Amino acid sequence: MKTYRIATIPGDGIGKEVVPAGRQVLEALANKNKTFAFEFEDFDWGADYYRKNGVMMPEDGLDALRDKDAILFGSAGDPDVPDHITLWGLRLKICQGLDQYANVRPTRILPGIDAPLKRCTPEDLNWVIVRENSEGEYSGVGGRVHQGHPIEAATDVSILTRAGVERIMRFAFKLAQSRPRKLLTVITKSNAQRHAMVMWDEIALEISKEFPDVKWDKELVDASTARMINRPATLDTIVATNLHADILSDLAAALAGSLGIAPTANIDPERRYPSMFEPIHGSAFDIMGKGLANPVGTFWSVVMLLEHLGEVEAAKRVMQAIEAVTGDPSLHTGDLGGKATTAQVTAAVCALLDKVEAPAAKATT
Ligand code: IPM
Ligand code: MG
Repeated sequence: MKTYRIATIPGDGIGKEVVPAGRQVLEALANKNKTFAFEFEDFDWGADYYRKNGVMMPEDGLDALRDKDAILFGSAGDPDVPDHITLWGLRLKICQGLDQYANVRPTRILPGIDAPLKRCTPEDLNWVIVRENSEGEYSGVGGRVHQGHPIEAATDVSILTRAGVERIMRFAFKLAQSRPRKLLTVITKSNAQRHAMVMWDEIALEISKEFPDVKWDKELVDASTARMINRPATLDTIVATNLHADILSDLAAALAGSLGIAPTANIDPERRYPSMFEPIHGSAFDIMGKGLANPVGTFWSVVMLLEHLGEVEAAKRVMQAIEAVTGDPSLHTGDLGGKATTAQVTAAVCALLDKVEAPAAKATT
């Protein structure tokens, strides 16, 4: 029997509630399906760790993750610690340290979810956003001088490398090719950003030649927001730089009904290191500790984790249980206008794992 080693990092805020819920689903799945098991190791890194130790995670923390098969992450962010410290000290340290350069963000309107666009059916909105996850606007290069003086200056330098763009384009074309519509939209801003984004466009064209069966087009990032709203069905797989995709993926999640259900995977496609799976929603201090967080974003992230491990049938089973739960308004949490608690939704998904038959659910990515 295969045993997968999973690191769990709840982090801050509601991460501490949804990650244990995700683990519960994985445990229920393993109990039911006797062909694989999980060995969990939990890490208490985050803002509480920072208050005690002055760092979000230990200096050698990455070493403890390297031999894992996957990482389930909650969120990083705390009202009393600056956001750039929580982000760079934990999530980005892991994403960049383990070279998880492809960030994959699927969006669909799940059954029972009320999405805001009146003219948009679930068939119209089935996207995967591929976010470049290692460089661009999140390169971390820049500096500040003359702090507090009138001549103070600060820079954040966006760096794109040929190697970095080639690998994310190849990943995106391959993902587009694996989806039924074989359709890729490359987001750009090469009209205004006249160096790196021009190279981005050139490399997209070069890589496209390796994938003659993939239809692709280019769209300026500002125009793409209007297109997501006015012509959602013209999009399928989307690739964008780190910051562009960060912004577009929040829009995508909102258009699909709630940030509380959106998942993400930080992937090292070469599998040199473990990949990391997390809900998009963040730490949500306003509801933390109350048992009200929507665990569906974590469960969908668990689906992506299982797909990454090659446990495709198990992934479908969890996705089907999720869709049954979203389809039942009595199991909606507050973000969806309901009254259900994290524990109730988790128990319902675990119970459904026993009932649902494996296939038939749509692939998530
Ligand atoms: C995301 C988030 C993060 C990001 C925040 C928490 C810094 O918005 O994963 O999309 O910008 O990368
Ligand atoms: Mg974001």
